[in-house]
Amino acid sequence: MKIVLRNIHKQGYKGDIESYLKEQGYTALKKALTLSPSQIIEEVKKARLLGRGGAGFPCGVKWEFVYREKEFPKYVVCNADEGEPGTFKDRLILENDPHLLIEAMIICGFAIGAEEGFIYLRGEYFKAYQILERALEEARSKGFLGEHILNSNFSFHIRLYRGAGAYICGEETALLDSLEGKKGQSRVKPPFPTFVGFKNKPTVLNNVETFANITQILLNGGEWFAQIGSSHSPGTKLYCLSGDVKKPGVYELPTNISLNQLIEEFGGGVEGELKAVLPGGVSSSLLTPDKLDVIMDYFHLQEVGSMLGSGAVIVINKDRCMVDLAKRCAEFFDYESCGKCVPCREGTKRAREILVNITRGKGELKDLELLKELAEVMFDTSRCGLGQSALNPVRSSIEKFSQEFEEHILKKRCPLGICSLC
Ligand SMILES: Cc1cc2nc3c(=O)[nH]c(=O)nc-3n(C[C@H](O)[C@H](O)[C@H](O)COP(=O)(O)O)c2cc1C
Ligand code: SF4
Repeated sequence: MKIVLRNIHKQGYKGDIESYLKEQGYTALKKALTLSPSQIIEEVKKARLLGRGGAGFPCGVKWEFVYREKEFPKYVVCNADEGEPGTFKDRLILENDPHLLIEAMIICGFAIGAEEGFIYLRGEYFKAYQILERALEEARSKGFLGEHILNSNFSFHIRLYRGAGAYICGEETALLDSLEGKKGQSRVKPPFPTFVGFKNKPTVLNNVETFANITQILLNGGEWFAQIGSSHSPGTKLYCLSGDVKKPGVYELPTNISLNQLIEEFGGGVEGELKAVLPGGVSSSLLTPDKLDVIMDYFHLQEVGSMLGSGAVIVINKDRCMVDLAKRCAEFFDYESCGKCVPCREGTKRAREILVNITRGKGELKDLELLKELAEVMFDTSRCGLGQSALNPVRSSIEKFSQEFEEHILKKRCPLGICSLC
């Protein structure tokens, strides 16, 4: 079942406007222009499409919030920052089917009453930047983008903005600050971007994959979409499978797939013997092999104490040291913390220091309790999602692999002989 990757999988599909038009391209936009904004929003709401960027917020509800706001101008922003380690799905869409995103953003603009949109693109995605530039020009030249789209009264413009390599700029409010030309740091929420967004105006901000579902929802109806996959978060999901798995890659699958099916049937099985899985990137909590039956949607992963996030499924085999893994995650968040709030700025540093000490044989058993306490404090008091979830992999690896951490500390070396300085 392909929705987002339906064109990409077709032989000979090039992703340019000619190929796109042959595959029903821009027919959803034509249909949208015959509907009222509230009819479009109703269809997206019926689909119960949850945002694919990580938080899983209902897309139709977000669009409706902005539609109902009386403040103008309104804006559409696409989050194409894709900074989460292990996530490489948006890139596939951007490089291979850019018009799918452009068409959805135009439809969104029409539905909420916006005339301007932005794509905030990860700075390192230079190929995607060139492809998007060309695709935007193609859409303008065919009259799908710009003034009086398809001879209607509706005008919409899209600008492309390149990020500068900060992970925090994927967080929606930091992204908006960066887009406004400021240093990318999170804002206090609420107010949410739907009410106070780009230039303090009502803004719909969605992930690339979220937008990529819109044209098929409009063409086939919200009810059609709502029947696919799990009833809690319908549709398909792009799962980025990486790590110790035989066939890593991006797999579009219905959301009622289990973790075991994903790894065994599609990923070709584990490379070696399975030890753990990070199901939602390095901000998620580890799952052990006894949780392989979990359904890979937002709801079920939360039920087993983890999260789906952006769908970065990282498989870890028995040759990996969990202390080393926890240390690497802590180093990443220490580097990427924007520094605006104390719990995250100081907490990520202390976590890294403690874990580096453990891997150097200078740790003490009480450090493990300290790390767990730090994770709790950061979760409760950090200003944004980065700090709140930064120590999820650290805390869960200590809880689930305590013996490995204790052995590491007591023997003053890695029991597996893997860590950097052993
Ligand atoms: C630290 C951090 C990084 C994030 N990075 C991204 C990202 O790269 N891409 C993305 O779409 N969402 C990212 N998000 C989630 C966004 O804040 C936001 O929820 C999402 O873009 C909304 O779109 P959606 O409703 O379509 O998912 C990040 C969140 C946090 C806390
Ligand atoms: S939690 Fe971290 S990234 Fe978020 S505002 Fe605080 S310091 Fe910045």
